[in-house]
Amino acid sequence: MSPNEAKDQIKTLTAELRQHTYNYYVLAMPTISDYDFDKKLEHLSELEKQFPEFADPESPTQVVGGDITKEFVTVKHRWPMLSLGNTYNEQELIDFDQRIRKALGDNFEYVCELKFDGLSMSLTYENGKLARAVTRGDGTQGDEVTTNVRTIHSIPKKLGEGNYPDLFEIRGEVFMHLKAFERLNKERIDNGEVPYANPRNFASGTMKLQDSAEVARRPLDCFLYGLYTEKTLFKTHWESLEAVKSWGFHVDNHSRLCGNISEVLEFIAKWDTERHNLSYDIDGIVIKVNNYSQQQELGFTAKSPRWAISYKFKAERVETELLAVTYQVGRTGAVTPVANLKPVLLAGTTVKRATLHNADEITERLKLHEHDTVYVEKGGEIIPKIISVNLDKRQPGAKPIAYITHCPACNTPLLRTEGEAAWYCPNDEGCPPQIVGKMQHYIGRKAMNIDGLGDETIETLYRQGFIKHISDLYILHESADELKKLGRFGEKSINNMLDGIEKSKQQPFEKVLFGLGIRYVGETVARKLVAHFKTIDNLMAATAEELTAAEEIGGRIAESITEYFAYENHREEIEKLRVCGLQFIAEEKEVTLASDKFSGQSFIISGVFEKYSRDELKDIIEQNGGKILSSISAKLNYLVAGDNMGPAKLEKANKLNIPIISDDELLAMLS
Ligand code: IVH
Repeated sequence: MSPNEAKDQIKTLTAELRQHTYNYYVLAMPTISDYDFDKKLEHLSELEKQFPEFADPESPTQVVGGDITKEFVTVKHRWPMLSLGNTYNEQELIDFDQRIRKALGDNFEYVCELKFDGLSMSLTYENGKLARAVTRGDGTQGDEVTTNVRTIHSIPKKLGEGNYPDLFEIRGEVFMHLKAFERLNKERIDNGEVPYANPRNFASGTMKLQDSAEVARRPLDCFLYGLYTEKTLFKTHWESLEAVKSWGFHVDNHSRLCGNISEVLEFIAKWDTERHNLSYDIDGIVIKVNNYSQQQELGFTAKSPRWAISYKFKAERVETELLAVTYQVGRTGAVTPVANLKPVLLAGTTVKRATLHNADEITERLKLHEHDTVYVEKGGEIIPKIISVNLDKRQPGAKPIAYITHCPACNTPLLRTEGEAAWYCPNDEGCPPQIVGKMQHYIGRKAMNIDGLGDETIETLYRQGFIKHISDLYILHESADELKKLGRFGEKSINNMLDGIEKSKQQPFEKVLFGLGIRYVGETVARKLVAHFKTIDNLMAATAEELTAAEEIGGRIAESITEYFAYENHREEIEKLRVCGLQFIAEEKEVTLASDKFSGQSFIISGVFEKYSRDELKDIIEQNGGKILSSISAKLNYLVAGDNMGPAKLEKANKLNIPIISDDELLAMLS
């Protein structure tokens, strides 16, 4: 392809993909399939690799993240980010309306908006491009989180044509949809990580991450609700919302213009019930005077505008009886207590159970007693939470609920690691829910994705004595006749299952590693480990120190990995899987060499870099014929060093007289 053709194609594809992103994430009306979108994105990415000189810096391929922020820079807000006064009942709102009426008379309108429960964000656009994203911070200054915000699809990185000024700021709320929250929190629990309490915490925890690639894995959204410009461009807030919508921003469509306070109260009453049908959390309604000159007339107090106020919904709370506390054992052995409640209607659904998180929640915070009457509330979670106990209704002589001391499934005494909240059953080889849970995790969509085999079948096969370890799946074909005799599975479904198992042998190493279900080794960690260590033998031989040298691997993960591989049974299981033909070596990526300038040279990349992620630097080296080594030895040609590199590495490299170079020096070697 000629450079001119490439330039044209890159331009067309960039514009096309930008429009599709807008259709999907802002309008929620996609016009092509996800598959076609991904194909186009891949094509653009390839063209950009071949012809980087024509790539748009705001290309849709850039939202996948990858940049690392070492420390967030504090930025002062051009206009302070104020908060809103709160009201909690009708009377307080009527009082607010009277204050406004006193100042403005009767001739004004309100805009009612949903109050999104996330974190506020200020976006600055310069010449139509997203220049900066800053958190609210203390209202005067916040953290610059542009790299992370760039991963949010509904936030445009570059605007199309429009009558926007060269410089403007737009503010809104970054949040996580409930579905994504549930899915990602479940993933965290499965990986043995601490779950987030609600979508708001998940969203703000995500914004604080230093690795934007991880941010990109956690889908966030953003509604914009306030435009700030040097010169006033519009007469009313409503007009400005319409305008920013036309510039490509995600503006919530539920807002309403109200002529008087009764209409405001109607809007509030409607959303007090309807809010439960939204795909995201709102915690109230924001009421704003529409006309900008009237807003100016009303002015501000020290903390908040006089022209706006928020109405906070009461969290719906009901009383019900605690029937019993039961316990679930997860695949990692973690024990989770669950409160079984007398069924009660709450926020439109019948509630029968509530999460209790851990032992302290029962014995310390709530001090639950048998048959207590408890107050239950629905927060961000789908499963509600016990807020407190109605002590007036405690039955005389009721016994305190004691946390179990033995596993409810296998009766092994439970253990608790110092400093951790959860109790564990250590019997991972003999505790049925752990065994079944591990195999169910292994066959799951995100791990080995085995067709023809579901959670229930795993349970049946385990109960009937066919499988106890993952490796037993791969000798299941030897028992095909006995499976038929069971009468539970037809011949076709047995064949499908065995086919699916056979095909799983082709799944790449990172999927197998994730599938093993090592504590704290989630999908991302598995990917990073495979990228760094390349083979299971390297990984099994790695010391805790070598493990922490890999990107994103902290002490806790390293300890869990070394502990896992120290266990003879685990090593035997891996050997069996290897003999069965599973993949334990990283797939060689097909790289088209950009040059052979690094041919015959070996490198180690260590530390944190400002401009590139370590994986990007690795790619650059490999694409130019270089090799990445995993440990420092006399064979090594260069150590590419960033910040925060471990002192042991530095000392070893110095001892062996290995040249230590920066990322800039590495790139200079190419030119
Ligand atoms: S307007 C002067 N509109 O609520 C403040 N805020 O308590 C202007 N929020 O910090 C804010 N939805 O994070 C506004 N539709 C909405 C909102 C909203 C959520 C948050 C925002 C703000 C806080 C104020």
